[in-house]
This record gives sequence, structure tokens and C-alpha cells, in this order.
Amino acid sequence: MLSFILNREPVETDASPGTLLLDFIRYDAKLPGTKDACREGECGSCTVLIGKPDADGRPRYKACASCLLPIGDVAGCHVVTVEGVDREEFNAIQRLIIEENAAQCGYCTPGIILSLAGFALSAEAYSYAAAVDALDGNICRCTGYASIRRAAVKLAEALEKNIRDRDDRIPGLVEYGVLPEYFLSIADRIRELKSAPSGPEREGEVVVAGGTDLFVQKPEELLTSPLFFLSGRRDLDYVREEDGSLRVGSAVTLEDFRLHPLVNRHLPAMREDVLLHSSTILRNKATLSGGIVNASPIGDITIMFLALGAVLELEAAAGGNRQVALCEFYRGYKDLDLNPGEIIREMVIPLPKPGTFYNFEKVSNRKILDIAAVNSSILLETDGEKIARLLLSAGGVAPVPLLIGGLEKFSGKKISPETFAELASAAMAAVAPIDDVRGSAEYKRLLLGRLTEAHYQKFSTRREN
Ligand SMILES: Cc1cc2nc3c(=O)[nH]c(=O)nc-3n(C[C@H](O)[C@H](O)[C@H](O)COP(=O)(O)OP(=O)(O)OC[C@H]3O[C@@H](n4cnc5c(N)ncnc54)[C@H](O)[C@@H]3O)c2cc1C
Ligand code: FES
Ligand code: FES
Repeated sequence: MLSFILNREPVETDASPGTLLLDFIRYDAKLPGTKDACREGECGSCTVLIGKPDADGRPRYKACASCLLPIGDVAGCHVVTVEGVDREEFNAIQRLIIEENAAQCGYCTPGIILSLAGFALSAEAYSYAAAVDALDGNICRCTGYASIRRAAVKLAEALEKNIRDRDDRIPGLVEYGVLPEYFLSIADRIRELKSAPSGPEREGEVVVAGGTDLFVQKPEELLTSPLFFLSGRRDLDYVREEDGSLRVGSAVTLEDFRLHPLVNRHLPAMREDVLLHSSTILRNKATLSGGIVNASPIGDITIMFLALGAVLELEAAAGGNRQVALCEFYRGYKDLDLNPGEIIREMVIPLPKPGTFYNFEKVSNRKILDIAAVNSSILLETDGEKIARLLLSAGGVAPVPLLIGGLEKFSGKKISPETFAELASAAMAAVAPIDDVRGSAEYKRLLLGRLTEAHYQKFSTRREN
């Protein structure tokens, strides 16, 4: 039996944990405000808020795509659809959408309202940029974005002025008319609920991290499969600094990683780079470990972590851990050094030495919400004017995400356009791309050369500044 709160009502259901939340909301709970469109996390029309209790039992709300979210993953949570933010009169977000003419057919509007409610509840800052970023996963086909953006920006201005307590925002948001009053009692109500199942049995169970890859690939199969929800492993939801490394638990979402103060201090580029992975409603669920295990040869996170020299700590179902370097984790196309029942427990990222240059580059048709044709990261330790150590990774150019080997010969060479031209040639010679929908093998090899040169251009610009 799964329990959660859907808007104002408690839910107890025997439905399969793999049932998509979108289907449960629309077809079981008969709440039609949440729209069913792409079912692939691309459009945002199915956006809902998930309030997951933190260690103190207070719900932390995030906007998520309900089309890739199994109900087993919301056990113990507060699920909020557009019907759940209704007040007797229009709420402050709805009023702004009307005043700014930010809706026409209205199909995307519930998702936009929930993304903006998520912004009100959890944004780091009520700024212009954050308000617009909160909508990066919501596509509108008819209104045009100028009026939607105007509504978002006016909301940010109003919240900046009116919401004083940012640690406990719910009372302020109720008072200002963004949320209905029942939100005030949710913390007490979710404490009474059972939390997500997370037993030690794992062999034969499908590990669900964010579910954003699994539920695109095989939603029908997962309806009847036994599932193991990583979100139930609170002990794996951490980022900490230890022994010269960042240790990131495998249940950490991309967005929590991106905004974590330790990540911002030691790997500042991640704040922008992770935005290139996907939209807010996906980053709020997708994890780093899911990206690593799905083993896409073009996965962005893997390519970033390969150049950082990451190591994986694996946990066997029966207990007992072992470590494997990320660059040795991939034995062939989708063939991993991962035993049945084993999970990634944490990623260990050695902290870059002071003065180390790190950079990520990606070429894709669209800036976000698009998989790369080729991507690449570099870690460059320098010894004054010379290369001390160099790690270069490349995606889309081999059956696995690749750490390019044989580059030790560049240690001691002067950092110059000539050296990087030589490095680009070495990288191009080391890969074996194939022709596919993203481009010909020749094009991808050439792209890798250009991205290697782009790393140098970024390095030079940063050195000059
Ligand atoms: C709209 C959209 C856009 C996207 N764009 C990009 C993009 O631009 N770049 C990019 O790189 N990717 C992109 N992706 C793919 C994205 O990388 C994956 O969806 C995401 O990283 C998977 O993470 P998850 O936590 O949701 O994994 P899940 O879907 O939960 O799991 C993925 C796989 O990993 C396994 N798994 C997960 N965690 C563990 C663990 N700790 N131990 C063992 N096994 C585990 C699962 O069993 C499953 O086989 C996109 C996806 C969508 C839907
Ligand atoms: S239906 Fe399009 S993102 Fe969920
Ligand atoms: S108002 Fe029609 S899709 Fe946005």
C-alpha cells in the first residue's frame, strides 16, 4: 500500500509502484488539469510539485515532470497539481498570467503555474534570471514567450518585496496569495505517512534513481517490474568534502548537485554546465548516477566526471563496497563493470589542485533539452607555462564515453595554440565515431578537434582575465 497526499486529500493505493504519476492523477484521481502530451519530459505540460519531507519532516517542494515519475517514488510526499494551488479567488500566479495575457489555448498553462509555484517555493533568489530559468522545461506553442516571461518577472519582483522569511516560505506565500491555506498543515500531515519502500532486497529489482531515463525507455515493462527506489535511501543523499575529494551520494539530484555550496566552491563551472544537461523539471529528479549507469556514449555528466578523474564506490546487495575508476567502468557498449544487485553508492571526485583549468564543451542542435552530437571535457594542471597533467574526455565518438588515452606525452609541453593543435590531432586519431542521425563519423571527428581547440580558447581567455 502506497500513501501520499494529493493536493488536499490523503491517498492510499494498491496501484503498482511503477504507475506513472501523470496517469494516476488524470485517470485514477480524475484531475484533468495536469496535461498529457509528450510523455518524454520534453514539454512541461505535465509539471507538478513534489513536496518531499526533509530530515526534519518539512516538505521541500520541487517542480517535476509527472510523466516520468512513478508513484512509488512519491510515497510519503505531498503531490500538488494545478487544482491543488487553487484558492477561492485566483492565486497570485494565475492573476499575473491573466494580467500579462500569458495564456491562449491554456494547454501549457497548468505546467507553467506549477513551475512558477516551484520557483516561489524553492528558488535560491527571486531574480529575473532565476524566474526565467524556472520555465526552461515548459514549452508554449501559441502564446509566445514574451508575455509569459513578463508574468514570471513580475512574480519575482513581487516575491522579492513580500516574502521575507526565505527559510520557511510557506506562511509568507499563503499570506501573499500564492498558495492556499491548507499548505500550512501539510508538514504535520506527511509526518504521519509511510515513506518510500527501500528494503535491502535488490537482486532482480530495477533500480530507479530519478526515473527520467527508465520511464522514457520502458514504461509498460516497469508497470509490473519489482522496483528499488534510490530516493528511499536517505543515507545516499549527501555531498561532502573528505580527504581531498568531493563525495557525492548516488541519490543526489542534478539540481541539488549544481547548487550545492561545496560544488560551487570547488567546481564552479558545474553551475552553468549542468544547465546544458536538461530542464529544471528533469534536473529536480534526474541523478548523476542514473546518467552514469545509462551508459550513453554521449552522456554529459559522464563526460564531465571522466575528465575530473572520478571514482565510483559500488555497494553489493549483500553489503560490502568496492571501488572502480569511472574510466574503467565501461567495458563496451552498455556493458558495465556492475554486478547483479550492485548499485553505485557514491561518486568520488578528486578536488582539482589550485590553478587547475577545467572546461566542458557540447555541440547540439539546441542549447538545452538536446543530446549532444559530440561533447568533451578537459582537466589541465599547469606548471607555470607548461602542462603538468592533462585529462581529456570525449562523447559521441566511441561505443562508450571515453577518457582519451596516450596523452601523457603532452606533460611538460608548453601551453600554446601549437600544442593544442597537436592535442586535437591526437584526440581525433584516438577515436572511432560512427555515422548516425547526429552526424557522419567524419563530422564528429572534426568536431572533437574543434572542441579541443575551444578548450584552449577558454583557457586563454580565463588566463587573460
Ligand atoms: C527530455 C530529456 C532530455 C535529456 N537530455 C540529456 C542531455 O542533454 N544530456 C544527457 O547527458 N542526458 C540527457 N538526458 C538523459 C538523462 O541523462 C537521463 O535521463 C538521466 O541522467 C538519468 O538519470 P536518472 O536518475 O533519472 O536515472 P534512471 O532513469 O532512474 O536510471 C537510469 C539507469 O541507471 C540505473 N541506475 C540509476 N542509479 C543507479 C545506481 N545508483 N546504481 C545502479 N544503477 C543505477 C537504473 O537502473 C537505470 O538502468 C535527457 C533525458 C530526457 C528525458
Ligand atoms: S508530458 Fe511532456 S513533459 Fe511530461
Ligand atoms: S497557451 Fe497554448 S500552448 Fe501555451
